[in-house]
Amino acid sequence: MNNPIAALDSLSLAFLVAAIAWAMTNKRSELGSGARVAIIATLITMILRDFSNVLQWTGVTQFFDQYLEDFIEILIPLFLGFFLYTFLQDKMVTSLKSSAQERQLILDSLSESLMFINRDLNIEWTNKAAEALFERSPNEMIGHKCHSILHNSDIPCDECPVIRAISSGRIEENEVSAFSAKTLHMTAHPVIGPTGRIIGALESVVDISPRKKMEQQLAGASKMEAIGKLAGGVAHDFNNILTAIIGFAECGIEEAQESPTEKQNPQLEALFKNIIESGQRAADLTQQLLAFGRRQILHPRIIDLNEIITGTLNMLSRMIGEDIDLRLNLADGAILLSADRAQIEQVIMNLAVNARDAMPNGGKIEIITQVTETVRNFADDPVHAPPGLYASIIIQDSGKGMEPDVLNKLFDPFFTTKNNGTGLGLSVTYGIVKQHGGWISAYSEKNIGSVFKVYLPMAHHEEPTQDPIMKIPGSVQLDGRGIGILIVEDEARILDFVSTSLTRRNFRVFTAETFSDGLKTFETVQDECQIVLSDVVLPDGSGVDLVEKIWAVKPSLSVILSSGYTEERAGLDRIRSSGFLYLPKPYPLTKLLSTISEAMQTNILNQDTPDVSQKPAIPLSEKKGIDQPVKKGNH
Ligand SMILES: Nc1ncnc2c1ncn2[C@@H]1O[C@H](COP(=O)(O)OP(=O)(O)O)[C@@H](O)[C@H]1O
Ligand SMILES: [Mg+2]
Repeated sequence: MNNPIAALDSLSLAFLVAAIAWAMTNKRSELGSGARVAIIATLITMILRDFSNVLQWTGVTQFFDQYLEDFIEILIPLFLGFFLYTFLQDKMVTSLKSSAQERQLILDSLSESLMFINRDLNIEWTNKAAEALFERSPNEMIGHKCHSILHNSDIPCDECPVIRAISSGRIEENEVSAFSAKTLHMTAHPVIGPTGRIIGALESVVDISPRKKMEQQLAGASKMEAIGKLAGGVAHDFNNILTAIIGFAECGIEEAQESPTEKQNPQLEALFKNIIESGQRAADLTQQLLAFGRRQILHPRIIDLNEIITGTLNMLSRMIGEDIDLRLNLADGAILLSADRAQIEQVIMNLAVNARDAMPNGGKIEIITQVTETVRNFADDPVHAPPGLYASIIIQDSGKGMEPDVLNKLFDPFFTTKNNGTGLGLSVTYGIVKQHGGWISAYSEKNIGSVFKVYLPMAHHEEPTQDPIMKIPGSVQLDGRGIGILIVEDEARILDFVSTSLTRRNFRVFTAETFSDGLKTFETVQDECQIVLSDVVLPDGSGVDLVEKIWAVKPSLSVILSSGYTEERAGLDRIRSSGFLYLPKPYPLTKLLSTISEAMQTNILNQDTPDVSQKPAIPLSEKKGIDQPVKKGNH
């Protein structure tokens, strides 16, 4: 057995067979198909060699054996060489494959969506984020035109950043709102091939829809803020003008009633009444603008939301009509809020009336109350409402719903889609809810219905407070009996109307137009003055500061604050907590007189009560270094 092949005995052959079988069947083996062919060929050769040994042993044919042996001797090194070559080649391919796999894994771990798009706009490669973003498998994307996948379009898009990047050789960006109403930010990076030619672009796509939504909400909120300020400012000026118009018309009626018959125009009184009525309508409108601008004075109490809803149920059912099925689904127990009852009732009414208007042929309205605890990232909370317990009122209807462009303008004042709508219902609702520290959201689907959700902060108190008994307005037949009243008002017309009306009723009227003027005048007349009526917003300071200063000097004084609006919440709270009487503008003469009558009664009580503060009535100018006072007023 000098034959090298014959040196292999049966045992080593069995060993080789086992090793090769293991290499070929083991899944983790890195042997490629070429190596497998080489191994099989070697194996066959070895079997043939053993077969030749058998032939030799049996002595069947010397000749055949000689040729076979030579043949095998050539084949063995040939096959072994082939095996070595293919094995090394497979190794290289495998290592290339594994580094490509590794790269794919790395790129798949990115949250940014990536795609390689070639010059023909075919997608050649994607990562997992891109597949997830476009909700497609790699097979559905690779080899397809990018515009058909991204934009469902047969033609390339205008302003396509990939086309621009391929032609300019620069990074190009674009923002598109296309796929599933998402807003996508696309950046195309040109990819330069080995020859220096641009072979395509790597496009990275970021879904910026959440950021866009937030930006829109912020823009919406600041728009509402700006319109609110404007509306509040206009309403303030209007209130002043209306106070004068209504007031003078009332003076006109009085004049008409009192003047000698021969001079009297029989229609004069009716004409003045018309002026008052129209003025009152304008005043109602300004009141709504104030509500939207969050400038009206609230009268918050601890109230039970469920009780308010059941309390308004009768009125609600009458208002929405019989063809609408009104259902209540109220949370168990009381939901306590610190809120202005009338305002919350108005919110419910406005939303219910809109729901009714959306269902001209009948339908269903459901009013639901819930307690919601908000945490930091509460989904429905675009307005920095602090986390905590909120009472929610949900009003949903089965009406015609709204298009997205209506939804976007919903809370704008004067926005209406109705022929006879005012467009104020929702803007007023928005203002009231915001003024109570809450927020409102709307959701709608065309021809299915709409849902409005109002969130209001819950109260920490335990018991609802009773509404005070309404005071009957005082009589117009008021006699001032020479009582001194200081009126501080920067609107000359109002000052004129108030002082004329009061002088006619035997008051001693002192007037001032500014904060400093008010202080000076008070110094001079403080002994004769029992009542102060001051506007809240004065050109050189706050009327609240002024009356607090004056009152500190003479605590027996009755104080009335009057305003068309209050600039901020702090101001509202101060008026409320001061305990001073409040006269909202525009006020008709009857309201002015009834408030003054109330002030006169408090004044009498104050006179009876010993002055506990024992403050001497020292001139204020001595403290503040104000010049010698100038007395003003009509006597
Ligand atoms: N529940 C609702 N269903 C459908 N559309 C509504 C609903 N609520 C409000 N809207 C839309 O919002 C607009 C503004 O409402 P609003 O401010 O109350 O004013 P108005 O009721 O006077 O039109 C309405 O004209 C209507 O198009
Ligand atoms: Mg409405």
